[in-house]
Amino acid sequence: MTAQKYQHYLEVDQFLQCAIGAKALLTALQMGLIDHLINTERESERALSQQLHLHPDGLRVLLSVLKSNGVLVSKSNTWSFTETFRQVLCYLDLIRCKLEMAMEVSDDYFQNLDVFAKSPQEFQQQSKLFQIFDYSKLLKVTPANCAHAARWMRYTTVLTKYETLALIDHVSLERFENAIDLGGNSGEFARQLIHAFPKLSFTVADLPVVCEVGHRHVSSFPDTKNVRFQTWDLRAEPVASGFDLISCKSLLHDWPLEGARELLLKIRHAVKPGGMLMIFERAKWNPDDYPWSFGELPIRLFHYSYRHPDIYRTWLEEDGWSHINVQMIDLDVPFMLIQAER
Ligand SMILES: C[S@@+](CC[C@H](N)C(=O)[O-])C[C@H]1O[C@@H](n2cnc3c(N)ncnc32)[C@H](O)[C@@H]1O
Repeated sequence: MTAQKYQHYLEVDQFLQCAIGAKALLTALQMGLIDHLINTERESERALSQQLHLHPDGLRVLLSVLKSNGVLVSKSNTWSFTETFRQVLCYLDLIRCKLEMAMEVSDDYFQNLDVFAKSPQEFQQQSKLFQIFDYSKLLKVTPANCAHAARWMRYTTVLTKYETLALIDHVSLERFENAIDLGGNSGEFARQLIHAFPKLSFTVADLPVVCEVGHRHVSSFPDTKNVRFQTWDLRAEPVASGFDLISCKSLLHDWPLEGARELLLKIRHAVKPGGMLMIFERAKWNPDDYPWSFGELPIRLFHYSYRHPDIYRTWLEEDGWSHINVQMIDLDVPFMLIQAER
């Protein structure tokens, strides 16, 4: 696969740049306007207003914002998708998830950018973002906790669905059989890797509520018998031994420095001789190179959490890993892919 192919999903971001256009797109999705145009290809304003029960003037405003956002074009009194938006119709799951999450955390930017700029700690305490990703609600399996987790897991799952394509393009995992994905969330990462490397079977280790919701996700696909979930509190329990591949996708940046250091040491003790550790997560970037946009708010507001790969590389060297290989993969922002062998 070429970089062009695995980066193609990033084309959605051009339609999520500004809050006004992004909100109009989400509304169009929620009110059925996008689905309607997928079915009809083009439609008159009058028919749209009747079919979607919209006030003609209100519809006109919505269409106008969608036009200036590059989603729609009008010709002879009918409306259709622009050619550029047509190219991203296959990513509607991603567009919807990114927009929903960006809307949820938008106050963190619009109301609290001063706090963000002043103090990472204060921002973390006050932000909606950190409330959504509140892991204390993941310990007890209850319908309310599952519903809470399912909301943010839709977001992590859909990002993982597309990010993993880039990883698969950069690794050769044919020699591994028994893998564990720490903080493996919905199992989407494991599912995709098994599809690419069919000799693999994966244990997905995560907190109880996440395992419950993840199990439902994976079960909705055929032939996923090689993904199993194991509830595991990585802070309290050792990493189990017997695995020849241990992966941490978008996991370590979430942990304070000391916790991440300790976890890597535990992994070193647990992995089988000849086995491999694979870290794949966003690396700290220069904001000049990757300008902020509305649709990217949930990722960008975690700004303080991301790290430079040298931090992990140094720890792996200290712990005696061999063949430490660090690659950078350019996606929405740079991702680090670190592979190390025991
Ligand atoms: C940022 S998410 C990343 C999830 C997934 N790997 C991905 O790439 O989208 C971090 C994951 O770590 C899990 N997690 C957090 N604390 C944990 C703990 N103490 N033990 C096990 N898993 C934990 C969370 O439930 C979540 O699934």
